Amino acid sequence: MGAPRLAGKTALISGGASGIGAATARRFVEEGACVVLGDLQIDKAHALAESLGRDVARATALDVRDEGQWRAAAKLAADAFGALTTVVNSAGVSIPGTIEEASLEHFRHTMAINLDGTFLGCKIGVEALKGGRGGAIVNVSSTLGVKAGAIFTAYCASKGGVRMLTRAVALHCAAQNYDIRVNAILPGAIHTEMVEGYVEAGLAAGATREQVISGFASVHPMQRLGRPHEPADAILFLASDEASFTTGGEIAVDGGYLA
Ligand SMILES: NC(=O)c1ccc[n+]([C@@H]2O[C@H](COP(=O)([O-])OP(=O)(O)OC[C@H]3O[C@@H](n4cnc5c(N)ncnc54)[C@H](O)[C@@H]3O)[C@@H](O)[C@H]2O)c1
Repeated sequence: MGAPRLAGKTALISGGASGIGAATARRFVEEGACVVLGDLQIDKAHALAESLGRDVARATALDVRDEGQWRAAAKLAADAFGALTTVVNSAGVSIPGTIEEASLEHFRHTMAINLDGTFLGCKIGVEALKGGRGGAIVNVSSTLGVKAGAIFTAYCASKGGVRMLTRAVALHCAAQNYDIRVNAILPGAIHTEMVEGYVEAGLAAGATREQVISGFASVHPMQRLGRPHEPADAILFLASDEASFTTGGEIAVDGGYLA
């Protein structure tokens, strides 16, 4: 067996209580990192941190829209495990609505969590990493940040924004000669609580669970949903030193959807 791929790293993971963020936390710990899980769902985050072990994982209340809470989470991580090396921006919401259905309030709510929240995660990440040991920031965008869907107006706008934010921050860090790489992943439909939300909505509208799931699966050439560990493995690569010459880039984890 080789050395753990994230040995010595300290990661702050937003949205770490659930889905892709939680799977990332598990993979990071398996590969030798210490993690802090920041989430609105604090009980769930605590339960996961406890199962991973107090020597390698902590949980903290984090609303990604709040700059002060980001600073507190970064400090907690540094105090517990040594200077931050890694920030994963996975917190997000997906609420359907066409341009005719979505209110401005709906649009702003989605943008505040998905885009402002990622902006703050990058801002606090650059601040912490440049003054410390360098490292990597990984943002979770979406295939819907590349290929739009009419019912996902705000979500598409937010995830397209995350892609360009990622590139601008990456270019800044490279120009400043900071040892900070910044990349994004583009998941297709991954079977997490987010997709379960659509299943619930489908059931309420009279569809069966199988119909909703196969509807998602059928738009992917591989004809299935992704599993949370699949985007987590791409995040792991981008966070590791194996990706040492990769910045401003993107990895699609989408069963061929964007091909
Ligand atoms: N599941 C998919 O099909 C899919 C596809 C593409 C992209 N994504 C993106 O992946 C990321 C993770 O989603 P997931 O599928 O794991 O969903 P999920 O619902 O399982 O996890 C999202 C987490 O974000 C947290 N969160 C929401 N608002 C927050 C806030 N204001 N502050 C802090 N935490 C907050 C939630 O509490 C939850 O724990 C999201 O950014 C999502 O847009 C998901």
